[in-house]
Amino acid sequence: LQHLLTIEGLPASILTHILDTADSFVGVTEREVKKVPLLRGKAIFNLFFEPSTRTRTTFEIAAKRLSADVVNLNIAVSSQVKGETVLDTVDNLSAMQADMFIVRHSQSGAAHLIARHVKPGIHVINAGDGRHAHPTQALLDMYTIRHYKKDFRRLRVAIVGDVLHSRVARSQIHALTTLGVPEVRVVGPRTLIPTQVERMGVSVYHDMREGLREVDVVMMLRLQNERMHGSFLPSPQEYFKHWGLTHDKLKLAKPDAIVMHPGPLNRGVEIDSSVADGPQSVILPQVTFGIAVRMAVMSILAGN
Ligand code: CP
Repeated sequence: LQHLLTIEGLPASILTHILDTADSFVGVTEREVKKVPLLRGKAIFNLFFEPSTRTRTTFEIAAKRLSADVVNLNIAVSSQVKGETVLDTVDNLSAMQADMFIVRHSQSGAAHLIARHVKPGIHVINAGDGRHAHPTQALLDMYTIRHYKKDFRRLRVAIVGDVLHSRVARSQIHALTTLGVPEVRVVGPRTLIPTQVERMGVSVYHDMREGLREVDVVMMLRLQNERMHGSFLPSPQEYFKHWGLTHDKLKLAKPDAIVMHPGPLNRGVEIDSSVADGPQSVILPQVTFGIAVRMAVMSILAGN
């Protein structure tokens, strides 16, 4: 792998190799991650043109645990505000001996554009581009599912909510189907499910109670108000009534079902606080696993 831009098209062997490599970085307990010298002397630039808490911070921690030098470019006070183009910014950072760019951008394809532009030997990781892809989120989600459920080939998984605007959902679907999950359901209102989604090998449910019945994993999605641009925008109360995950609805899933969410949470919109903070929630472990998974991706790209 030269870059990680999308899950689409990656074989199961590569996804499994990333998850296994992440395992090797996890210490005695799942919350301890070892520091290793694999990227000593490498310069990694976090280029986040869109806000982030989890992804940017776990990439920074992961890079530091790999002993790399990390630079977080503060876009708001960078020369971007004077009109410098993204590619000129990348060229100037490359002139500072950058080895890897972690890129988040509101435009789908931004990370691809940068990957096509950089010199050979510089790696690009897509940390979320528009509605398109968020590959490391999907990988940490797969790590979480494997941690709790062991075997992908026995699972029934529901992805619930605003699939239409979600780069996370798109990457999750590619990862789940590639890893052999036999039943992937997408559950949500007609206005928030893309019409062609069945072509991705999933079944569609427009009734949340039906969609949750007997599933092993519930993957909730954030209602992405910032990407709706005047299209369907339900009131939070109305959305929660029909599509919010409550304790009552969760009872329809298997008793040992896990509840996931990529964050940030809209509490009381797509998920009730009692479920988000409840015994079946693995939302915070997802964040923790993100460190080891991002260490794995960076070290594999760097040739280790
Ligand atoms: N899941 C995720 O991408 O969260 P952030 O936007 O906080 O990075």
